[in-house]
Amino acid sequence: MDGGSFAMMRSLRGRLFVGLTAIILLTGAVGGALAYRWAYSEAIETQDSVLIQIGSFAMSASIRQSRPVTGIDAEAEVAVVELGEAPRGSADDQRLWGLKDGLHNDVYHGQPVRVLLRTRPDASRFAVTQRTEIRTEIAGDMAVRTLLPIAALVPCLLLMTAFVIARSFRPMLHLAGDLDASRVDDIGELPVTGAPSELQPFLGSINGLLGRMRVMMDQQRRFIADAAHELRTPVTALSLQAENLASVDMPAETRDRLDALKSGMRRTKHLLEQLLALARQDAAPSPVSARVELDKIAKGIVSDLLPEAAARNIDLGFAVVEAVAVNGDPLSLMSAIRNLVENAIKFTPNGGAVDLGIYREDGMSVIQIEDTGPGIPPQDLARVSEPFFRGGEPSGEGAGLGLSIVKRIVDHATGSVLFENVAGAGRSGLRVTVRLPAADR
Ligand SMILES: Nc1ncnc2c1ncn2[C@@H]1O[C@H](COP(=O)(O)OP(=O)(O)O)[C@@H](O)[C@H]1O
Ligand SMILES: [Mg+2]
Repeated sequence: MDGGSFAMMRSLRGRLFVGLTAIILLTGAVGGALAYRWAYSEAIETQDSVLIQIGSFAMSASIRQSRPVTGIDAEAEVAVVELGEAPRGSADDQRLWGLKDGLHNDVYHGQPVRVLLRTRPDASRFAVTQRTEIRTEIAGDMAVRTLLPIAALVPCLLLMTAFVIARSFRPMLHLAGDLDASRVDDIGELPVTGAPSELQPFLGSINGLLGRMRVMMDQQRRFIADAAHELRTPVTALSLQAENLASVDMPAETRDRLDALKSGMRRTKHLLEQLLALARQDAAPSPVSARVELDKIAKGIVSDLLPEAAARNIDLGFAVVEAVAVNGDPLSLMSAIRNLVENAIKFTPNGGAVDLGIYREDGMSVIQIEDTGPGIPPQDLARVSEPFFRGGEPSGEGAGLGLSIVKRIVDHATGSVLFENVAGAGRSGLRVTVRLPAADR
């Protein structure tokens, strides 16, 4: 058994199909054989009764011929042979005369025949003959014709079986597809009503499991949010104290250490804020939904970040800007775009460029951010929006949470975000494309 047929026997569909096919073929073969045998013997009997009818017909003296008649029925080759009142003629005729009245198998003119002997009231005898070969041929033809309906029925049955099996299993495949399509962070219940009754217990168990997973994930999210929230206060107090220290007179060496401490505090605060933002997005995405003018938001962000870009001689600006709007939470959307532009500036070397494009395409509002940095290694592209992912050689202050926050925000707004490397024409860099359903003008 090769791998394919192994897999087939492991699947219920395969087993059903193989089993039903075997049953149909077996039924067809047995039914066909029985029908053939039955029709064959029926045809032989019918031909005997034809001989008897012709015999009764030839009984009347007026039909009597002085010489043998042949070819009464050209196709069936039935012949009436007059044998006279005493044995005479050829050896064959004489032997036939010797047979009793009734049906016999004999040989006539060197060929096997079925023969009916009759004696008329005036003692003259005659034989009705038919070649055995013709009889079996006719019977065979008739029997084969009874096979035709069966032969036509078997392929039809096979087709219908395959169709019914495929249809019956479709709900299962649909369910699997639904499960596959559901996002890890958004596990809804599988629909139980309308599913085949055999599947209902499974669906119930799966839904129970999904429910427990949801509760667990909620607890985890809440724990992260609470932890980040609880940590914020002491960290803020610590950085305030570090700031206060700065006003105290101290040696240059100590001041260096203090600066390092302050920047450490800043990073920690940033990390906590991002964690909190991520946990909030996860736990309860902002219910606010307003009309958000993306081009205005983007312009605000660009003018905020211009000094930072200028300090590093980065050309930050718009390649295209159209007036587009979406429905969503303005603060979340702003933080998503800001995260992307900040990344682009952060990863672009001094003297590079960051271009924004804002436009409408196929009913979607599109924001594109393109930089001239190193881009992201292809094997990491799919993972950049995982929490804490910072690539093979982490650099800078980030914690690797920015893009996961962006992804949650965009997902919640039923949009998509695509990361791709732009290469060729002497340039490299990352292009991030965010698509959001456009709001009506
Ligand atoms: N514009 C970009 N160019 C190159 N790499 C980038 C860019 N944006 C993000 N990345 C990569 O993706 C990782 C994750 O980004 P992000 O989630 O914003 O984390 P962070 O900025 O805190 O490091 C970054 O550490 C970096 O390796
Ligand atoms: Mg970032």
